Amino acid sequence: MKPALDLVIFGGTGDLSTRKLLPALFQLHRHQLADRLNLIVATGRATISDEDFRASVKSNLQTFLPEGDWSEEVWSSFHDRLRYSTIHSDKAADYEVLGELLDGSGAPGRLYYLATLPSLYGEMCQQLRAAGLVNEHSGVVLEKPIGHDLESCSQINEEVAQVFAEESTFRIDHYLGKETVQNLLAVRFGNPLFSPMWRNTFVDNVQITVAEDIGVEGRGDYYAKTGALRDMVQNHLLQLLSIVAMEPPVSLRAADIRDEKMKVLRALMPITADNARACTVRGRYAAGAVNGEAVKGFLEEADFQYADATETFVAIKATINNWRWAGVPFYLRTGKRLSRRYSEIVIEYKRQPFSLFANDPNELTNKLVIRLQPEESISLHTLNKKPGLTNKLSLQPVELHLTDESRNKAQSYDAYERLLLDAINGDQTLFMRRDEVETAWRWIDTVIEAWEQNGTPVKDYNAGTMGPSNAIALMAIDGRSWYE
Ligand code: BG6
Repeated sequence: MKPALDLVIFGGTGDLSTRKLLPALFQLHRHQLADRLNLIVATGRATISDEDFRASVKSNLQTFLPEGDWSEEVWSSFHDRLRYSTIHSDKAADYEVLGELLDGSGAPGRLYYLATLPSLYGEMCQQLRAAGLVNEHSGVVLEKPIGHDLESCSQINEEVAQVFAEESTFRIDHYLGKETVQNLLAVRFGNPLFSPMWRNTFVDNVQITVAEDIGVEGRGDYYAKTGALRDMVQNHLLQLLSIVAMEPPVSLRAADIRDEKMKVLRALMPITADNARACTVRGRYAAGAVNGEAVKGFLEEADFQYADATETFVAIKATINNWRWAGVPFYLRTGKRLSRRYSEIVIEYKRQPFSLFANDPNELTNKLVIRLQPEESISLHTLNKKPGLTNKLSLQPVELHLTDESRNKAQSYDAYERLLLDAINGDQTLFMRRDEVETAWRWIDTVIEAWEQNGTPVKDYNAGTMGPSNAIALMAIDGRSWYE
């Protein structure tokens, strides 16, 4: 049994903590899953008393918890775990105060969750060590983005590594905490029906879509310097791609899964100035209507610095140069202010070599559709006979749902609940290893360099659509289309 630990959240009054981390911790507490967890200490620059902090957590939980999950009774015991400590990242005396608080708790373990500006991660780790707050039972969780490119990412990783071993470092990609991503592993590796067909002999193409209907919300300044490629593709989409494309691991242990994901990232063909226009599309939303409401364009939302060179949409035709996937394009797309919010992975199978049927089933291909959100589902799209007394045998599409309908609300959870629980228990399987993050950045840097070299334009699209028309052309030119 691992020793009890205190969780310290740097950036503890920030947006992520308010909307995601504290509600997730409340849920773990409610389900009595976080046995190891002792105190939850939020830190921030403001001077706030414990009681004021607890009062704001209470009202935020009532806002952000799913309906029906708030409970006064659960709150009364959760409340006792909460503390607040003022920390200025560069003030050694603040860490001493934190140390006194943690010493008083008696729990030997410490988990530090860094959800502040990533450029502060190195300094915070050094300060924690200098104040004697890091022991053999300490770990650190790093929120994304870890850097802005390979160089800045390596620097952050290096600084953190001087204090925390890789085995105690948990790099979050919250997409890995989504239930369907783990279900994908179960479906893929648990069924002889799918495993042999998971390769270029049978698969025509793979599509990964992460569509958002929201705009940049209050994060325009960050986003204008970042763009969709860095914000979403570097992490979430490449993580999904590596899970879909990896070889069967020798076991489900973290190291074995991460080794296989790494090989996929290493096999990604670099995008160059020569092929960037054929393989990538950049877009930026202009004014339009989303879910029936008029919305402004990205450039009109505020006077963000760098915004005119920022993409809010990106589509990429990625190539994995290995034995299993040679010849199978992986089409990725993500964007803000699209027509609706959904995330989906589609494995589209090859067509039959010859059609025997009265109707042309050409557009009716077999597909495995893995829906991550808003609802979670996995369905297999196949063909069977159109029923009835028709003269000729013809085909119709039919969907087989592989989702467990008996799964009830109590078994649903937010990705952060899964990831916080795993980090508390020291399980790194759903976290990114240093080499994965850096290899992903190396590939993303090639795309950015190629865009700079050949001046890949950012095309406007109307808010409420599925991106610029070039994104359709990206597939159409290969005789394919996005599954909508
Ligand atoms: C974050 C991005 O990592 O993921 C945001 O920084 C994005 O820009 C968010 O909105 C999407 O997450 P989800 O779980 O709502 O799809």
